[in-house]
Amino acid sequence: MKLTSLFSAAIGAAVLMSATSALAVTIGFSQVGDEGDWRPAFSRDMQAEAKKEGIDLKFADAQGKEEAQLTAVRSFIAQKVDAIIIAPVVVTGWDQVLREAKRANIPVFLADRDVDVTDKSLYVTRISADFNLEGKLAGAWLAQASKGNCNIVELQGTTGAAPAIERKKGFEAIISNFPNMKIIKTQSGDFTTDGGKKVMEAFIKSTDNLKGVCASFAHNDNMQLGAIQAMKEAGLKPGKDVLMVSVDYVPAMKTELAKGEANASVELRSAIGKYIYPVVLNYLKDKKPLPKWVVIPSDLHTAATPGN
Ligand code: AHR
Repeated sequence: MKLTSLFSAAIGAAVLMSATSALAVTIGFSQVGDEGDWRPAFSRDMQAEAKKEGIDLKFADAQGKEEAQLTAVRSFIAQKVDAIIIAPVVVTGWDQVLREAKRANIPVFLADRDVDVTDKSLYVTRISADFNLEGKLAGAWLAQASKGNCNIVELQGTTGAAPAIERKKGFEAIISNFPNMKIIKTQSGDFTTDGGKKVMEAFIKSTDNLKGVCASFAHNDNMQLGAIQAMKEAGLKPGKDVLMVSVDYVPAMKTELAKGEANASVELRSAIGKYIYPVVLNYLKDKKPLPKWVVIPSDLHTAATPGN
């Protein structure tokens, strides 16, 4: 090849490369942390799907701290990313930073958890499951399994987090129809296995080994897995002495259901990058207004109905 043709080939490649990188979308994703089994599975999926879509993903793990999320979002704004995705630790405290993103003209999308802001125009849409429905599904399953007679201990998720607020509300909306169903103990286990174990140990102590308790409702599987350990250590038979219903349907819970140490779990899909990125990418292309919530379906599983 002549020197001149080599030169023009090199120029052509350079032009092509800069055109491709000009097209690459950069997205900042502020994730809650890595609590439990569900969250890391969600993070892995977001990273894998971003790769498939050719997205330059800036991933920030907030380790359960909202302040870390605010710092991450401000750094995404400073880096002039094309879009920001937030899975918020708690619902409150978002107005100011979302206003900053809006002023910088960077669209914000909520994934999984919700925020509580008066000005809904501060984010484009939320793509997530319906946590309230998950609570309702758990409550309805328990109502039929206990024939409407049940003293319940509840393991709540992180205080102030959307899934903790909404799963509780949904569950209570169902059991309020049954005069003999009531929550007799409730405490936060922060969505972790350790937290769930500690809370169940306290419940066991304060109820004389769960005397008169018919069910444990946990806002996620990891807390229920911890509760199962605590109950077994106290000589109880989870799934038999006490009905066990929770949310997420993670692999370890599938095993517990198969062993009969748990009875039901509402599936929260973790492979949701395939729902989230197309919404973000299409919006970046056409800027068409979207409904404020794109709902991902949830369903309940037992050992008899394991699904796929
Ligand atoms: O926001 C979803 C919840 O967060 C999941 O149910 C729980 O496992 C996680 O910590």
